[in-house]
Amino acid sequence: MNLKLYLKEKKEAVDGFLRDYIASRKNRRACPADLCDAMGYALMAGGKRIRPILSIAAHEAVGGTSDSILPVASSLELIHTYSLIHDDLPAMDNDDFRRNKPTTHRVFGEAAAILAGDALLTDAFNIISHAEAPAGILINVIRELSHACGPEGLVGGQSLDLVLEGTKAAKSDVEYIHTHKTGALIRASVRIGALMADTSPAGLACLTEYGEKIGLAFQIIDDILDVTGTIEELGKSTGADDARGKNTYPSAFGLKESREIAERLVNDAVRAVENLNKKAEPLSEIARYILSRRN
Ligand code: IPE
Ligand code: IPE
Ligand code: MG
Ligand code: MG
Ligand code: MG
Repeated sequence: MNLKLYLKEKKEAVDGFLRDYIASRKNRRACPADLCDAMGYALMAGGKRIRPILSIAAHEAVGGTSDSILPVASSLELIHTYSLIHDDLPAMDNDDFRRNKPTTHRVFGEAAAILAGDALLTDAFNIISHAEAPAGILINVIRELSHACGPEGLVGGQSLDLVLEGTKAAKSDVEYIHTHKTGALIRASVRIGALMADTSPAGLACLTEYGEKIGLAFQIIDDILDVTGTIEELGKSTGADDARGKNTYPSAFGLKESREIAERLVNDAVRAVENLNKKAEPLSEIARYILSRRN
């Protein structure tokens, strides 16, 4: 299969949904223009859309054909974008550059950036509630997602990331940070694709393992790219983790071992979906792409 073309097609579908979403919020005029502008700025600044794409790929891998996978998958990008807006704030990572543009708080101010993040997080659940799927499935999706984003997921990971900044954390704490701040939403993205297809427990178990492994690998590669990448490739500052005293895989394990761990995780992920049918090919290809990506 042609992965590049696959990623391009899915990204275009997600971008289309997100463009319509922002336009609908603007048209209704119920959302103050400044708030809508900050939300749209952050959401439409680019981004690989890897979480929605993973969700769609997982849905299709287990035979799902539901049209409502697009809104549900796209809502994951609202949550991811909220997490980036807040992550870049002066009180957190204090970054000025994201997706090749000045960060949301640099353009709109801190208060507007905080509120744009709040709005995107909340609206994600509103979008899901409107998806055309049996209520029982949507409840499962909402339960999955709220758990992955909350104190036992993304927010928990971000919290420990900040608490341990400037200290030499135990390797187990670094693993906790990574599996939570980034791994949890990626794992949930994959599982939600499967839940939307009402898949069997066995199918869900394979995809859960896949999502868990690539979720951790994704953040390890993000850390490695902070050391080895360029600002032009990444669209965000490099060397920032070291400057802030962040606990990363390279700082805890060294660059070489970090890469080996990521490779092992990706191999495990590919193995986990080996027994699904041919429709799972994009998942294996995406796992390998996560390892070789340059941004
Ligand atoms: C960056 O995520 C932040 C992490 C959780 C590692 P992505 O690398 O998916 O960023 P975009 O969405 O493509 O900009
Ligand atoms: C971000 O981790 C994780 C979340 C936003 C939840 P990083 O702080 O490493 O992400 P970048 O490097 O700023 O994109
Ligand atoms: Mg951070
Ligand atoms: Mg950051
Ligand atoms: Mg990073």
